[in-house]
Amino acid sequence: MPTPIIAPSVLAADFGNLQRDIEMINNSEADWFHIDIMDGMFVPNISFGMPVLAAIQKHAKKPLDVHLMIEQPDRYIEEFVNLGAEFITVHYEACPHLHRSIQLIKSFGIKAGVVLNPHTPVDVLKDIVTEIDMALLMSVNPGFGGQSFIENTYNKVKDLRALADSKKTELLIEIDGGVSNKNAKKLVDAGANVLVAGSYIFGNENPHQAILDIKNT
Ligand code: DX5
Ligand code: ZN
Repeated sequence: MPTPIIAPSVLAADFGNLQRDIEMINNSEADWFHIDIMDGMFVPNISFGMPVLAAIQKHAKKPLDVHLMIEQPDRYIEEFVNLGAEFITVHYEACPHLHRSIQLIKSFGIKAGVVLNPHTPVDVLKDIVTEIDMALLMSVNPGFGGQSFIENTYNKVKDLRALADSKKTELLIEIDGGVSNKNAKKLVDAGANVLVAGSYIFGNENPHQAILDIKNT
């Protein structure tokens, strides 16, 4: 099995020591920074916005993977591109004109992805899967870190990998929520190639080891 891309979720970092935690990721075997943007409308929580992302970008030496949990995300795509996003993912449930949103992201020359909530079947991606670089399957309900992994995610990963294969398209499948050493291997075996982890990494006594544990799963 190929090694998964590991994207630590900065939401679980210590915001009083943000630079320290970013340097930890810079010096680790992790691959990307996962940035959770929440608006208190699409999800029942507010995380952080542009000034904090600008501070993260100043120190981060790995790609920024920006997960937008916001309504009408098209309003802010250009700003996130200017703040250094290399991947932007938008929620299927927040985008009535998803094709347009994806084209908008791609028009800036960065990678585009679609996120599905736990209840949204992967079939809804059938007519857009060849247009996107990545699909993010939520393995918890979005809004908060530290929740328990939803087991049905394995079935969704398998179905989505089969859908991408049937369309002969390469697709990054990213998993977000409750990822740990207990489910990483099974997710990769099912066809996932990007693992987001927040509390498992930042809540660990040895975050470097936690990253290795899910990477060399
Ligand atoms: C949840 C966020 C996740 C979250 C993951 O809405 O999208 O990225 O920070 O945190 P853990 O790994 O603690 O579930
Ligand atoms: Zn996320």
